[in-house]
Amino acid sequence: MKILFIGDIVGSIGRDTVEKYLPRLRRKYEVDVVIANGENAAAGRGITENIYQDLLQVGVDVITMGNHTWDNRDIFNFIDEADYLIRPANFSQDAPGKGTVQITKNGVTLTVINLHGRVFLPPHEDPFAMIDELVAEAKQTSPLVFVDFHAEATSEKIAMGWHLDGRASAVVGTHTHVQTADARIYSGGTAYITDVGMTGPYDEILGMKKESVLYRFKTNMPTRFEVPKSGREQLSGFFVEVDDKTGKALRCERVYINEDYPFKG
Ligand SMILES: [Fe+2]
Ligand SMILES: [Fe+2]
Repeated sequence: MKILFIGDIVGSIGRDTVEKYLPRLRRKYEVDVVIANGENAAAGRGITENIYQDLLQVGVDVITMGNHTWDNRDIFNFIDEADYLIRPANFSQDAPGKGTVQITKNGVTLTVINLHGRVFLPPHEDPFAMIDELVAEAKQTSPLVFVDFHAEATSEKIAMGWHLDGRASAVVGTHTHVQTADARIYSGGTAYITDVGMTGPYDEILGMKKESVLYRFKTNMPTRFEVPKSGREQLSGFFVEVDDKTGKALRCERVYINEDYPFKG
């Protein structure tokens, strides 16, 4: 199975960039399953039902979330019916939605799991304890398991990668919006990258207008961050090919597209 993961989609520029490059990436990598992090898809904050449907329409199979899951209240209207939207599994048991989903393509089933880190982020349930149960449960159906660990600290994400080495097909980090250059396959067969990076405005600060972010840093005054509607774009992603029988990663590659690093077919 060939899987493409797209990092945090930010605002309309991010969504347009997915639509623009997904057909080319699909051809280049012969992609079977597309997973994307959508926690910033609605103007930088959360996701709406329309955006969820649009992303499925352009070819995204599963959408993961993160600390911005509840930022747009529209999510409460549709999350319980959204089969292919998952939010971190280690949120409260009373939170709406679910943290895992299974998808079958060409007779092969993949379990996708979303988790939330606890370092420099709100303290949710222990992701390390929870993932053990979730992986064991997933493996009763199929050896193919993909984990999006939405976390801030590089150390916490690398720890999760090694924690799951040999048990998950891939562990990718999201949330920092900056792609790391450490894509690799660990010795047990788990593909790993500390952060996939962000898909959205290229010339701003993590996708937010740089003037407002700079103002906050310089003054410590409360500021509303906005996502620009025009400007240059980038797409950050991660490709992994997984053995259908063993669930082990066979190869993986960073995907990073913008005007400085143009798409190569
Ligand atoms: Fe994000
Ligand atoms: Fe985040």
